[in-house]
Amino acid sequence: MACMACLLLALAFVAAEAQQMQSNISRGSSLTPTTNSTWLSRSGLYAFGFYRQGNGYAVGIFLAGILEKTVVWTANRDDPPVSKNATLLFTGDGLALPTAEGQNYLVKSSGSASYASMLDSGNFVLYNSGREIVWQSFDHPTDTLLPGQRLLAGDKLFSAKSEADHSTGIFLLNMQHDGNLVQYPVDGTGSASAFYASSTLGAGENVTLNLGADGHLYLLNKTGSNIRNITDGGLPTDEGKFYLMRIDADGIFRLYSHDLKKDAIWSVVWESSKDKCVPKGLCGLNSYCVLSDLKAECRCLPRFESVNQGNPASGCERNFVADACKNRNENFTYTMEELESTTWEDVSYMSLRLSEKGACKQGCLEDCDCEAAFFDGTNCRKRRLPLRYGRRANGTSTIALIKVGVPKPDTDRRIVQPGSKKKGRPDILIICLSFTAFIHFVVVLRDSVVETQCLGIYKNECCEW
Ligand SMILES: *[C@@H]1O[C@H](CO)[C@@H](O)[C@H](O)[C@H]1NC(C)=O
Ligand SMILES: *[C@@H]1O[C@H](CO)[C@@H](O)[C@H](O)[C@H]1NC(C)=O
Ligand SMILES: *[C@@H]1O[C@H](CO)[C@@H](O)[C@H](O)[C@H]1NC(C)=O
Ligand SMILES: *[C@@H]1O[C@H](CO)[C@@H](O)[C@H](O)[C@H]1NC(C)=O
Ligand SMILES: *[C@@H]1O[C@H](CO)[C@@H](O)[C@H](O)[C@H]1NC(C)=O
Ligand SMILES: *[C@@H]1O[C@H](CO)[C@@H](O)[C@H](O)[C@H]1NC(C)=O
Ligand SMILES: *[C@@H]1O[C@H](CO)[C@@H](O)[C@H](O)[C@H]1NC(C)=O
Ligand SMILES: *[C@@H]1O[C@H](CO)[C@@H](O)[C@H](O)[C@H]1NC(C)=O
Repeated sequence: MACMACLLLALAFVAAEAQQMQSNISRGSSLTPTTNSTWLSRSGLYAFGFYRQGNGYAVGIFLAGILEKTVVWTANRDDPPVSKNATLLFTGDGLALPTAEGQNYLVKSSGSASYASMLDSGNFVLYNSGREIVWQSFDHPTDTLLPGQRLLAGDKLFSAKSEADHSTGIFLLNMQHDGNLVQYPVDGTGSASAFYASSTLGAGENVTLNLGADGHLYLLNKTGSNIRNITDGGLPTDEGKFYLMRIDADGIFRLYSHDLKKDAIWSVVWESSKDKCVPKGLCGLNSYCVLSDLKAECRCLPRFESVNQGNPASGCERNFVADACKNRNENFTYTMEELESTTWEDVSYMSLRLSEKGACKQGCLEDCDCEAAFFDGTNCRKRRLPLRYGRRANGTSTIALIKVGVPKPDTDRRIVQPGSKKKGRPDILIICLSFTAFIHFVVVLRDSVVETQCLGIYKNECCEW
């Protein structure tokens, strides 16, 4: 959570502004990003209201009473940030941002709301006139679970895009109806893409994930029996100490502790995996995850290039003409590149019993549908692209064979090789071919640039005089 500090600066700004310390918020109250921007809980630990997001503001709940301001909930997290002119209005129907087109409801209460309260537990609650709860943020978690909050069967936590951007990211934690607590990539399909499971499949319906004030993270079944301890709990609960659980942008869910009196920073108490390459989909299609100094790094398949350098989840694509096999592209030759010690999602369209790697390569080269093959010494499994969920796995004996197109090293074709960006080379070459002696004369006398190009590029072809 070191990077929760990313939020620090933005939020310190908000905290410095006018805030209303009130436990009952009456209907008709409003907030604006720059003045009266939040409603605080009684102790001042939690705040509901505007916080800085990108070049504007979002509405949510954050820990305001600590140095490292930490967002724990965001309303309509995928909506674009609002401008500093926005107003948040508490009406009988919930919380709305009035716009030119009408009320944009961030929160819709299930009955007429008459007052609201930001509780010291971090729960923001709307009550009706009979003091019954008509909406509460604890029922609508985003990526964080606070002590006292539970994840019901069917509920999901979605990671944020990044530490600084709280919109929906690419991982989820699902409290399934079958009793299992499971993590998937958002675009995953079924159990093959799961990368964490509590192993409580079959514990029945209505299993819940619970977090205690002492950092105890556990599963209860329908009748309230503890069926699994994810963390042991029993951590100190003296004043100023508190805990939260969050599924982080990197796909790992962690229990954090914070001590107001001691270091006043968040520290990791427990994490679902110490191996940052475990979350499937962290590296996008056709790329694989490699641990380097305990950090996850994404690498492309051989002869593939990053789609977006800044976003490893966007994956890699071929840097050669792809459909050439079918169209008999005479400008490329096809070979199989070997990639050792990696594992990938296991879906192949054909598996052949072959004990020779060479035969596996040949089989793929001769099959236009085959774009990659996995060879493990006894089987050759043919695949189409894209490959996903790749990661380095030193123990595996399976070799990934990737079909790649290599430009033919043919002089005639290299002249007009696609992708050649410099202009005029063919002309120079024609001149080279036709008037070698003359060019030599010109070069020596006047044009040293042409000489450099000739020597550098066409030395072996025509410029050897
Ligand atoms: C909040 O409002 C409710 C209902 O009107 C009232 O019973 C309660 O005492 C109020 N609490 C505070 C702290 O004013
Ligand atoms: C902030 O809210 C308080 C209480 O509702 C009000 O008295 C004050 O005028 C408001 N300040 C601004 C700048 O709107
Ligand atoms: C905010 O309101 C002011 C005054 O009405 C206006 O000049 C400004 O353009 C508005 N800003 C945005 C971002 O809407
Ligand atoms: C699970 O909880 C829901 C809502 O409380 C209830 O309708 C359903 O009957 C429960 N299922 C079982 C098997 O108890
Ligand atoms: C809940 O767990 C307890 C202890 O394992 C077990 O005895 C009980 O039958 C379970 N209840 C349900 C509804 O599965
Ligand atoms: C979980 O831990 C508690 C003590 O904190 C213990 O009483 C309980 O039996 C444990 N449950 C399981 C399923 O191991
Ligand atoms: C081979 O390259 C030449 C020159 O760029 C091009 O005209 C031709 O279409 C290419 N052949 C194929 C099959 O793409
Ligand atoms: C795998 O092997 C590479 C190169 O041999 C090494 O750098 C890396 O640390 C190893 N990774 C693991 C997880 O053992």
